[in-house]
Amino acid sequence: MKEIKVGLLGFGTIGTGVVKLLQNNGELLAERLGCRLRLVRIADLDISSDRGVRVDAGILTSDAMSILDDPEIDVVIELIGGYEPARTFVLRAIENGKQVVTANKALLALHGREIFSAAAEKGVEVLFEAAVGGGIPIITSLKENLCGNRFRSVFGILNGTCNYILSRMTHEGEEFATVLAEAQQAGYAEADPTFDIEGVDTAHKLALLVGLCFGTNIDFAAIHSEGISSLTSQDIRFADQFGYRIKLLAIGKRHDDGTIEARVHPTMIPKHYPLADVDGAYNAVRVVGDFVGPVMQYGLGAGMDATASAVVGDLMALARNLVRGQGARTHGLGCHPGQLRELQV
Ligand code: HSE
Repeated sequence: MKEIKVGLLGFGTIGTGVVKLLQNNGELLAERLGCRLRLVRIADLDISSDRGVRVDAGILTSDAMSILDDPEIDVVIELIGGYEPARTFVLRAIENGKQVVTANKALLALHGREIFSAAAEKGVEVLFEAAVGGGIPIITSLKENLCGNRFRSVFGILNGTCNYILSRMTHEGEEFATVLAEAQQAGYAEADPTFDIEGVDTAHKLALLVGLCFGTNIDFAAIHSEGISSLTSQDIRFADQFGYRIKLLAIGKRHDDGTIEARVHPTMIPKHYPLADVDGAYNAVRVVGDFVGPVMQYGLGAGMDATASAVVGDLMALARNLVRGQGARTHGLGCHPGQLRELQV
């Protein structure tokens, strides 16, 4: 069976989830693809900690270049996060003709133009489903399923950490600092949680959604953003008494004159709206297209397993292209035709 060779940059929470998924579901993925995904090397500065997954010590390295410059490696998964060295590594992978999967919203919100231009020039793909909404397939939906529409608006709860904190403050009367520590412990928060609680992470994700929905250049600096760090339990109680939930909302709208509005801030949402019921580390995204109307997606927006699901979905899409030549992201029923089983009823 043909093999697609994969190199992983970053063996943190999501990297560990990807390794676990590839191990647990490897046979199933091979059956669906008609080829095997082989993780040949993992680069991280820490190659000694036990992550609770079985990994052959021989594939661990602290030298990212040994992945980026290896002509045998077909796909590079970048899960380092942040701007640098992620930018340099992704550009190097592209330069070397590798397909790229990344979950790095910060990188794409700031350097997306440079990265996607380099990829187009080189004829490789950079897929980023895991960058927005964790396990929710919103990026592929916008790029593929809904791409016949002219979008009017995109709204979302896009940060699992903030939503977890706000939910616990609302329903259990917990204090901000206590719940933030729990969100970090659960693997939802960024390495620097300031990005989460100050709305920066949500603004990075909104920049990507606005770029996809409205065809604008991704301009992160133009997005107004406020976080949740100054919200108190009293704010939440008062909102509750008036019939509202407070959520950190990302809002993108296209006005009739063609101008785009993009902002992130805590928002009072009437309790009877579906977005008000999105609790814990869950995210939700609601888009309105001119033909499809409103479409809302809901799922786990942060955490090891859900985010790994999105990363591996992208990896599978690239593997399909590599095996069958450039073409549809998904093929038929999503299985290699020879692998379809008889229906047993
Ligand atoms: N820190 C992010 C969040 C991770 O809490 O949503 C997923 O992008």
